[in-house]
Amino acid sequence: MIRSIVNFICRSSGREADVSEETLKTRLDPSRMPRHVAIIMDGNGRWALRRGMPRAYGHRAGVESLRDIVRVSSEIGLKVLTVYAFSTENWKRPREEIDVLMNLLVEYLHKEIDELCRNNVKVRAIGKIEELPAHARRAVAIAHERTESCTGLIFNIALNYGGRMELVEAVRAISAKVARNELSPDDIGQEAISNHLYTAGQPDPDLLIRPSGDYRVSNFLLWQLAYTEFWLTDVMWPDFRRIHLLQALVDFQRRQRRFGGLN
Ligand code: FPP
Repeated sequence: MIRSIVNFICRSSGREADVSEETLKTRLDPSRMPRHVAIIMDGNGRWALRRGMPRAYGHRAGVESLRDIVRVSSEIGLKVLTVYAFSTENWKRPREEIDVLMNLLVEYLHKEIDELCRNNVKVRAIGKIEELPAHARRAVAIAHERTESCTGLIFNIALNYGGRMELVEAVRAISAKVARNELSPDDIGQEAISNHLYTAGQPDPDLLIRPSGDYRVSNFLLWQLAYTEFWLTDVMWPDFRRIHLLQALVDFQRRQRRFGGLN
């Protein structure tokens, strides 16, 4: 039963054969665009190993996908794009792979920052940034500073991010306010919790994309995903391009969201 549901999800979210980027764009209804799209950039390692290459090769290829997706997200007027680049659990990987990922982040921000500014993209790193290596922290600080006044796409890069840790931090911050009598326990509602997350002030994701054929949330945006639509595909992240994003958006617009209510 579960397997057939999963198969249905995959079949229904695969790319339609022979549909061009232009056709997909014409099928998009600008009035029903998701405001926030979140992506778990998965499959880099397997993509590389299938080509007989080291995992680092897959991560580097994954940066090309990221470049393309940030560009098109900005072009089509998304408000927020959040990508999962490094989780609180990814420290369990070999030191060498962690170094590759941190170096790629620094290189990416260094190379892209001018274009991001030109495209009015506001870069935000979400997660425990203070625990990142110094060169990564510096690159993030520069990107924040350079794009601070940008008013277009908000581009959240989840780095040393964990959904549970984010909730723990929110609870700590709220408790501290209660202890200082700045907040009464009666005032702690859903809005107060949302306002203490890294994504405070941003809409929750309307759409979550997970490439590479796995069906997990992987500790990503646990609170924010409560009513998010999921779009899963077998395409590996290094092969994921704007046409896949456009297909996901077209499929999203065909869905009926009820948020627990009726039609
Ligand atoms: C998961 O794939 C991917 C990651 C842990 C890192 C994602 C990083 C990038 C796309 C590039 C660097 C990021 C930035 C912001 C420049 P995996 O390696 O776990 O794939 P697997 O499941 O096939 O092993």
